[in-house]
Amino acid sequence: MLRDVVETDLPIFFEQQLDPESTRMAAFPAREKWTDFLAHWRKILGDPACCKQTIVWNEQVAGNIGSWPQEGRRLIAYWIGREYWGRGIATAALAEFLGQESARPLHAFVISHNVGSIRVLEKCGFVRIGGAPAAPDGVDEYLYRLG
Ligand SMILES: CC(C)(COP(=O)(O)OP(=O)(O)OC[C@H]1O[C@@H](n2cnc3c(N)ncnc32)[C@H](O)[C@@H]1OP(=O)(O)O)[C@@H](O)C(=O)NCCC(=O)NCCS
Repeated sequence: MLRDVVETDLPIFFEQQLDPESTRMAAFPAREKWTDFLAHWRKILGDPACCKQTIVWNEQVAGNIGSWPQEGRRLIAYWIGREYWGRGIATAALAEFLGQESARPLHAFVISHNVGSIRVLEKCGFVRIGGAPAAPDGVDEYLYRLG
């Protein structure tokens, strides 16, 4: 189930994005300081162009999903807390989110080793349309599109 983000979700998101296995999987660095994290989220939540939802599973805050405009594209991303992995939550959340977010096309960047996220995107109809230039560390990033 998706619902609007409330302030009390933020400490949970903070812990979820600190998890080293998650940051390695997404190849996305954590915001280590709570004040930086909070400032980032307050900016997002105050921006009407950003669409953010909390993913609730069994009445628990399992993660978040959202979309935002960036360099002429509308991007989506999601993050699930490690203890909730492997239960179909990301797939269900993305499918539900796609019913709320009417913009098309939607795009997603995903690092080539993130097979779980690639699977989630493909199960929800996203198609790989190319690879972004390799990051400085040599890791390839793929670009996916829906619509
Ligand atoms: C990637 C991530 C979103 C997957 O969430 P999840 O709720 O476990 O995903 P689902 O349960 O919906 O799994 C969907 C499919 O991916 C597969 N999958 C999920 N994680 C996997 C992994 N680590 N390795 C291989 N396959 C994986 C599942 O088996 C399932 O496939 P199936 O339908 O064929 O059985 C979650 O691990 C996560 O948030 N990771 C950290 C942040 C991140 O990577 N965000 C995405 C950035 S692009």
